[in-house]
Amino acid sequence: MIDFHSHILPGMDDGSKNVAESMEMMEASFSQGVEMIVATPHFYPWLESPEDFLARRASAIKSLPLPLDKIRVGAEVAYYDGIVYSEDIELLKISETDFLLVEMPMTVWTRRMLDSLHAIENRTRLKVVIAHLDRYLRLQKRTANIDYVCDNFFIQVNADYFINRGTQRKALKLINENSVDFIGSDCHNLTSRPPNMGEAYQTIEKKLGIKSVNAFNDKQNQYLEGGLIYER
Ligand SMILES: [Fe+2]
Repeated sequence: MIDFHSHILPGMDDGSKNVAESMEMMEASFSQGVEMIVATPHFYPWLESPEDFLARRASAIKSLPLPLDKIRVGAEVAYYDGIVYSEDIELLKISETDFLLVEMPMTVWTRRMLDSLHAIENRTRLKVVIAHLDRYLRLQKRTANIDYVCDNFFIQVNADYFINRGTQRKALKLINENSVDFIGSDCHNLTSRPPNMGEAYQTIEKKLGIKSVNAFNDKQNQYLEGGLIYER
């Protein structure tokens, strides 16, 4: 089980506040069966440079006493006008992969925005992963944007979309349609937004069977083991 989206590094953003909280969040994740946590602190390009972000991230990682073989680092990169021109964007990819986790705006996406994502991929080796697709479904409803991004980019969905009774059916439909590439807890703390990958996986197994879980895990392992991914 891979948690592809988490705010588990201490003091980086609105996630874990300190080392103790990070440790508890990691222990909670591992006890649920998570084998790898991708740490994706928010990166807001209007607040700092990628270099400054990486320096902060490096000291956050250094402060953790755990052996870090189960952690990969990346960022949740906020989309902004001009993202395509960023020279340093590749610094923000998820370590040992070519994936860039992008947080899209909470507006109806324009063609120009979607073209910018393609332009990033064309200019670099990066592959765009749309963060928490579930958050945008309602907003993009009257457009073809969701089908478009599912067909053209990698997709991450949050665990709570599978857990909540009201959205569970839609979440499972996305898995069945092969639209979900990664699931993430998007955990920020131990209370309001805790590590919850275990419960999401239990739901998938209960409703779709262990074969679906295994197939999903195989797909993710292929993405991550390969390191460099060129085809979806
Ligand atoms: Fe997040």
